[in-house]
Amino acid sequence: MTAARAIAHPNFALAKYWGKAPGSVSSRETTRTSAVLRSAAFENVPAVPSLSITVDAIFTTTTVRFEKGLGSDVLVLGGAPQYGDKAKRAFALIDRVRLAAGLSTRVRIDTTNSFPTGSGLASSASGFAALGLAATKAAGLDWDASRISDLVRRESASAARSLFGGYVELVPKREPFLAALPIEAPRAPALSVVVCVVTEEEKSVSSGAGMRATAETSPYFLSWLEFAIRNYRDQRDALLQGSFEKMGELAEASALAMHATALAAGLVYWSGTTLALIHAVRALRASGVPAYFTIDAGPHVKVLVPRAYEERVASTLAHVPGVLRTINTRPGGAPSVEIVP
Ligand code: DP6
Repeated sequence: MTAARAIAHPNFALAKYWGKAPGSVSSRETTRTSAVLRSAAFENVPAVPSLSITVDAIFTTTTVRFEKGLGSDVLVLGGAPQYGDKAKRAFALIDRVRLAAGLSTRVRIDTTNSFPTGSGLASSASGFAALGLAATKAAGLDWDASRISDLVRRESASAARSLFGGYVELVPKREPFLAALPIEAPRAPALSVVVCVVTEEEKSVSSGAGMRATAETSPYFLSWLEFAIRNYRDQRDALLQGSFEKMGELAEASALAMHATALAAGLVYWSGTTLALIHAVRALRASGVPAYFTIDAGPHVKVLVPRAYEERVASTLAHVPGVLRTINTRPGGAPSVEIVP
């Protein structure tokens, strides 16, 4: 039986993806169509461009094994068999791979995260990236990173960005094929991302459901779309110019605008500790330390700092009440995959 193991890293968006493009359909709506029709569908396409950093120190490890004799697909996450939504989404990706490879064999997927799952630390990004890499390799498909990025984007758009290390962008266009692209940024500042972990719990509203609710009910959704396009362009320029302060200011602005838009639809992803960390980062800045926060669909806070300030910022933020631990990460984290016995 063929098996492959992949390692992929989470990515944190500085310019956030929040919202699906008009006409974009979910993977659930295309499960009954043929492989050809599916690959031509406008599936899970973001409404706005995004720009992210894939980080090095945290990761997902996933092994996919095609096993004759298995009656159904199996997903084991951190040692626990999964039967709910996570399993459905993983098997939907496996179905695409099976169709493309002309296989009918069932799979056993074993996956572990080196960090909390489903709570806003981009485990679906690293998880689907690792799954796409391991599944295509195990199925004998010789696909490049771009094609796998398009594959995994259909299940989770942020995962498309984890196919590449460092700075990456995902820019929607009106074509069915849509992959993320790495950004060449020779002048990028030497920075760290200090991840402040504030919970081990999973969030109650997934990003996808949160985006749908925001588009349907937030009075600010249209302004968010306009803002996000401008913000992405400015962040790209700031990255290419190597301006840390501009990148930090624009990243904070993107996170705040995304959360303000979602808040107005009733979605509160923050906890009290999130707010305490925002104030702590601002206090650091007022004392002359260049530090900027970003927050995804969960309560954790990720703080951008020039590398020289990494230790100081991490030890200050580790003492904010409610912070469980901090993890120092840096841009990097290109994924890898290998055949295993
Ligand atoms: C806040 O990629 O998890 O992290 O495509 O529905 O699976 P789906 O959503 P997902 O959303 C990520 C949202 C975000 C911002 C970002 O990573 O750009």
